[in-house]
Amino acid sequence: MQYHEIMKKEVRVFAPASVGNAIVGFDILGLALTKPGDEIVARRSDVPGLRIVSITGDEGKLPYEAEKNTAGFAALSLLRHLGQPDWGIELEIHKRMPFGSGLGSSAASAVGGAYAVNLLLGSPLSKKELLPFAMHGEQLASGGFHADNVAPSLLGGIILICSNQNLDVHSLPVPDELFAAVVYPEVEVLTKTARSILSPNISLRQHIEQSGFLGGFVTALFRSDYELMARSLRDVIIEPQRAQLIPNFHQVQSAALSAGALGCSISGAGPSMIALCRGEAVAQAAGQAMQAVFSETGIRNELFISAVNPHGAIEL
Ligand code: HSE
Repeated sequence: MQYHEIMKKEVRVFAPASVGNAIVGFDILGLALTKPGDEIVARRSDVPGLRIVSITGDEGKLPYEAEKNTAGFAALSLLRHLGQPDWGIELEIHKRMPFGSGLGSSAASAVGGAYAVNLLLGSPLSKKELLPFAMHGEQLASGGFHADNVAPSLLGGIILICSNQNLDVHSLPVPDELFAAVVYPEVEVLTKTARSILSPNISLRQHIEQSGFLGGFVTALFRSDYELMARSLRDVIIEPQRAQLIPNFHQVQSAALSAGALGCSISGAGPSMIALCRGEAVAQAAGQAMQAVFSETGIRNELFISAVNPHGAIEL
């Protein structure tokens, strides 16, 4: 590939937030939201090497050094794979979503970095082929290797990860009326902490119960069966261990269910909570009911109502 012939001058991309675990599938299921998300600009430069020239919306928290930055490292990983680590590229990162929220913020940046640079180069790789490079960026931020945020942010939809090690990922059908209400309460839950408190062992009984819920949810997606979905959106393994990290977790969950949500639990590692609902009006009602519980106890919060995003990362 001839660098100056193939590259576009500049591209701007959007990489969406995502909900890891999608309530029933810890580390192996995730869904993409339509908003919020990050914007990344990649532009060619005569100065050799990948340089991050601007970061906004991060309150000065993110490093400019590409090797240490989620978006930068994902892009570098792709350039190295292509055998061109010295190509002159500038990156701008515009964070448009809260950090440490359980909405896949670092995954969105990693996806945006890899996707933008691939587009700039004239798309030598397919979207799905970018997954390992985006994962490298996410791994830098989270330390873990689970694709339940990166894969939906990149590919869109609801993604089942049959193997995180082999990145064996599959898109599931998304019923038309499925909406998410996601409430982000402004409390700190570090993913590292939320993972470190989990017991490495589960009982056979828990395994059987949760397998039934995961299978039920997947079947419900294939059949657009909202009643089965409502019976299946339960987490008997992770939720009981993490609920203590979110103030008023059980009241918020009850409020969402009383407002008609099909299911409600923690989004990713938290602190955001997600309610999956049939229809946008129910999602609005469930979201407002969840917000009211947080607000009553003085916890500032933000509501995002979103259909499942079928596209994942896109060029703007
Ligand atoms: N599956 C992950 C977790 C998502 O719940 O810890 C957050 O990285």
